[in-house]
Amino acid sequence: MNEPNTAPGYDRRTFLGGGAAAWALACAAPANQERTVAAPKTSTPRTGFPLLVGSANALVGMQRFYKDLADGGDPLDVAVEVCKVQEADPEDQSVGLGGLPNEDGVVQLDAACMYGPTHKSGAVACIENILHPSEVAKLVMQRTDHCLLVGKGAYEFARAHGFPHVELLTEASRKAWLEWKERLSSDDDWLQEREPPKPPKNASLESADWQRVASRSAWKRPTGTIHVSALSTRGEVACCTTTSGLAFKIPGRVGDSPIIGAGLYCDQECGSAGATGRGEASILANGSFAIVELLRQGAAPLDAAKEALRRVVRQAQRLSKWQPEMVDADGRPSFNLQFYTLDLSGRFAGVSLKGGKFAVADPERGPRHEELAVLDA
Ligand code: GLY
Repeated sequence: MNEPNTAPGYDRRTFLGGGAAAWALACAAPANQERTVAAPKTSTPRTGFPLLVGSANALVGMQRFYKDLADGGDPLDVAVEVCKVQEADPEDQSVGLGGLPNEDGVVQLDAACMYGPTHKSGAVACIENILHPSEVAKLVMQRTDHCLLVGKGAYEFARAHGFPHVELLTEASRKAWLEWKERLSSDDDWLQEREPPKPPKNASLESADWQRVASRSAWKRPTGTIHVSALSTRGEVACCTTTSGLAFKIPGRVGDSPIIGAGLYCDQECGSAGATGRGEASILANGSFAIVELLRQGAAPLDAAKEALRRVVRQAQRLSKWQPEMVDADGRPSFNLQFYTLDLSGRFAGVSLKGGKFAVADPERGPRHEELAVLDA
């Protein structure tokens, strides 16, 4: 991106004398040589700088591109390149090629990116037949005065910039869609007109009686996505999120991934955050924006992300008065949602309603999976 260094207090030369260079050297060291990684030599101790944090499926891309970031690469370029690895992988049915299609069997993709130093963003939604929506989102940011292009307009914008027309529906994804269609599953997104169910007198959300009013099964369809937040050697933040969205969604449905503040957000003054999982919950909580605002107020990344998840839990419990399937028998969200975040000093966190792994890459230990923190009941 070749943007000026806008982050106060970060000296790239000093940093490269410490952690980033050490990690890069560790990567290059022969296998029989001891690998030692020094902490960055900045006036204030900084850990994990430069840093990538994101969803578990970002690990392969992090392994390929973390070195570029450690060598001084631009955080947005690296975040997008990491996402593109999954977009091109037909085995990942949550994103790009091979993504699970909508109700009509059409793959519709959403993606967005944001760049801290300029506070600009770009996004595409419901784009079809384009392999790398994350790259198109970056072009929307760089080559237009807009934040979001959708559908046919997004497709034509991509084609005008030379992106080829690609059939994204793989045989495996077509078969999964056909099986869902053949079962005439009631596990879809259409809600019947109905009165809010009335709980029995004195019943709490935890009550078994209350749960019996649920008329639909819990949310089971996959809502995979890839998110990556990045912090460069110069302290610049950027992020990218890309997805094929909720499997078998109503055509035209847009989740949180291309919505700035929901599926991702960064601010050069405090940090970056992103989400994967049930997009509607992330939109209703404005989750990524909420986390970055909590970072601004001084919260540590783990505390900020947990607070955003707590809001999601309370919101799901209120929503369950109209949609009982939103909570389980314990009154906890029946769906999953993950948040990933980093701050300017290189602290990071991954949190989840249900658990699992997230991906992180820092100078000390390089790219790896770590356990997501789960909210206490
Ligand atoms: N989080 C991805 C989606 O709901 O579309």
